[in-house]
Amino acid sequence: MAFRAKHLLGIEHLGPDEITDLLDLADQYVDLNRQDVKHSEVLSGLTQINMFFENSTRTQASFELAGKRLGADVMNMAMQASSVKKGETLIDTALTLNAMHPDLLVVRHPQSGAVNLLAEKVNCAVLNAGDGRHEHPTQALLDALTIRRAKGRLHRLNVAICGDIAHSRVARSNLLLLGKMENRVRLVGPSTLMPSAIGEFGVEVYEDMKEGLKDVDVVMMLRLQKERMDGGFIPSEREYYHRYGLDSEKLGHAKPDAIVMHPGPMNRGVEIDGTIADDINRSVIQEQVEMGVAVRMAAMELLVRVRRKTTAGVMV
Ligand code: NCD
Repeated sequence: MAFRAKHLLGIEHLGPDEITDLLDLADQYVDLNRQDVKHSEVLSGLTQINMFFENSTRTQASFELAGKRLGADVMNMAMQASSVKKGETLIDTALTLNAMHPDLLVVRHPQSGAVNLLAEKVNCAVLNAGDGRHEHPTQALLDALTIRRAKGRLHRLNVAICGDIAHSRVARSNLLLLGKMENRVRLVGPSTLMPSAIGEFGVEVYEDMKEGLKDVDVVMMLRLQKERMDGGFIPSEREYYHRYGLDSEKLGHAKPDAIVMHPGPMNRGVEIDGTIADDINRSVIQEQVEMGVAVRMAAMELLVRVRRKTTAGVMV
């Protein structure tokens, strides 16, 4: 087994061999999840705590299901109602939970770097479920599995990541992962929604959708993250849809068998046309959700395996 990470904090720290290991195991979990009885004992007796300091629908549900299907005791902390509201710091909350001996801690936090900081303070494996604009590793991994299954490979593909790149941890983790697996990534969107350090990424940047989508294999749309904007990024949603919203005309510039992805939640009629999102011949958005559960099962199993090896005194 190549996987050696003690935490899953970002794609940045994973090697291509570790990514492949994880996706191979996730493939097996896709099969299990399609059975009537979806249960394994891999995490039996272990405790998983989910701490979401930011709203989430699919990521939290998916981590919860993943843990339950592997037999863990799963607890969802209601962070809105917790002592955080009374002024407790992130670290104090983490130390309190740590004293309850969890084995896996799944954390989403609005601040970039908060999950890394927390991982230094606890004894268990920490999984980053999204921190600020930094990373969202399980999203990139589930996107990679979706692409690999749809295209039959995860290398030498042309992938366009489109829209609000500046505010997106999904874009950052995907850029890192797709780069490590030797794909060509293009970023498409208005200059106001591109990160300032775009030069460091070593990717092609397009302001025009038609040019940006030309002959790509994968079109990945991103949500316009209005909650992270303080005004002035786009003229109007209507104008944005006109220039950057994915409709059949713009998709016509991609390869005829190009797939359409979106991490969700979607703003229909803003970054994507509802008919495209629902077109089962082009859109793999529901597959992404399905892969999410399998990838999270695989990630948690691998982290626990590494922990067990380490505590058994075996070199990892
Ligand atoms: C993404 C997130 O929270 O970063 N959603 C998700 O995890 N499925 C993207 C988004 O919020 O737009």
